Amino acid sequence: MVQINERGVNVAVLGATGQVGMVMRRVLAERNFPVKNLRFMASARSAGQVLEWQGHEVPVEDVAQADLSGIDIAIFSAGGGTSKVWAPKFAEAGAIVIDNSSQWRMHDNVPLVVAEVNPEDLDEIPAGIVANPNCTTMAIMPVMKPLADKFGLKRLIVSSYQAVSGAGRAGVEQLMNEAAAAIEQGADKLVFGGDAITFPEPTKVVRTIAFNEVPFIGAIVDDGSEETDEEQKLRNESRKILHLPDLKASCTCVRVGVFTAHGMSVNAEFEQDVTPDEARAVLSVAPAVELVDIPTAQLAAGKTPSFVGRIRQDQAVDGHKGLALFVTNDNLRKGAALNAIELAEIVAQKHFADQL
Ligand SMILES: NC(=O)c1ccc[n+]([C@@H]2O[C@H](COP(=O)([O-])OP(=O)(O)OC[C@H]3O[C@@H](n4cnc5c(N)ncnc54)[C@H](OP(=O)(O)O)[C@@H]3O)[C@@H](O)[C@H]2O)c1
Repeated sequence: MVQINERGVNVAVLGATGQVGMVMRRVLAERNFPVKNLRFMASARSAGQVLEWQGHEVPVEDVAQADLSGIDIAIFSAGGGTSKVWAPKFAEAGAIVIDNSSQWRMHDNVPLVVAEVNPEDLDEIPAGIVANPNCTTMAIMPVMKPLADKFGLKRLIVSSYQAVSGAGRAGVEQLMNEAAAAIEQGADKLVFGGDAITFPEPTKVVRTIAFNEVPFIGAIVDDGSEETDEEQKLRNESRKILHLPDLKASCTCVRVGVFTAHGMSVNAEFEQDVTPDEARAVLSVAPAVELVDIPTAQLAAGKTPSFVGRIRQDQAVDGHKGLALFVTNDNLRKGAALNAIELAEIVAQKHFADQL
């Protein structure tokens, strides 16, 4: 544990050495989070590393060996299996856990929150665990919430274009290795056939991802739907966050050969008429949203807002009740680390105000 300030909350980051953990460390510093004592944790693999934070040297602890007492807020980005085991233990030891994995999101007594959309859901944290949404859900919620409030959201159809960093460091390494192999052998050979290059065996994404699109993320759910769990997350999490339990929603998730920032093509149907101009007027004042003409992954990478553009009337919906639009957002930043830190700020204000 390293003391940073006299006052503030005691913060632990579990998964501090990962991609999301690295962005979390950066965002905690950028936003001057009111940290009193700071701890970084990961697995035994990284224990003993020292990570610099705001001029302090913070050792990485093996969570399995760590004393969990005295932590106020623990921010987790270490995968679902790790959260399943460790979130209840941290909560039992007195911490409020903010978890980035999918493990706890749909539990009834666990709030699932986007900072600008449903912060009131953090008033009560019955199990001591708060869940951060999936990155695709996160990206479109700040866009869909003000439109839903104004025009009444009925149906959502989403196709995602998801970056490899959403699959962790292993996803980034696969794209780098495959791209290097293709360039060495002459990537332009791919114009005439996908098997013109000998790629290394896929190590994380289920098919070659360099210069490719792979419509399969996660695992097929054993419920007869033939959907992947990633596809179901968008439906289930949108319903919970927007407080619209009967929302009709369908999603196709596609991994693309992009390092960071997910894209989402959205077709939304509303109760009331809505024109693209009316939607733009609503979105122009929405928090965490930026209107642009062409939202791209490279525009969003490293930035905070959900970029939204290409807003059109959905011609497949009768009258003026449908919109088509495209959203891009940095999956590691707002899609994971930033929202988690924003939730930690709200939790600190609501539950540890006397320490600030
Ligand atoms: N990437 C995204 O776009 C994204 C978006 C939203 C949510 N998330 C979620 O965030 C989490 C991490 O993603 P990531 O991209 O940062 O993955 P990552 O780069 O692979 O990092 C994983 C982190 O978890 C730690 N860890 C793994 N197993 C552990 C264990 N048994 N005990 C303790 N620590 C363990 C690793 O520590 P070592 O260094 O010791 O291995 C590392 O710090 C996942 O739950 C993911 O679902 C990711």
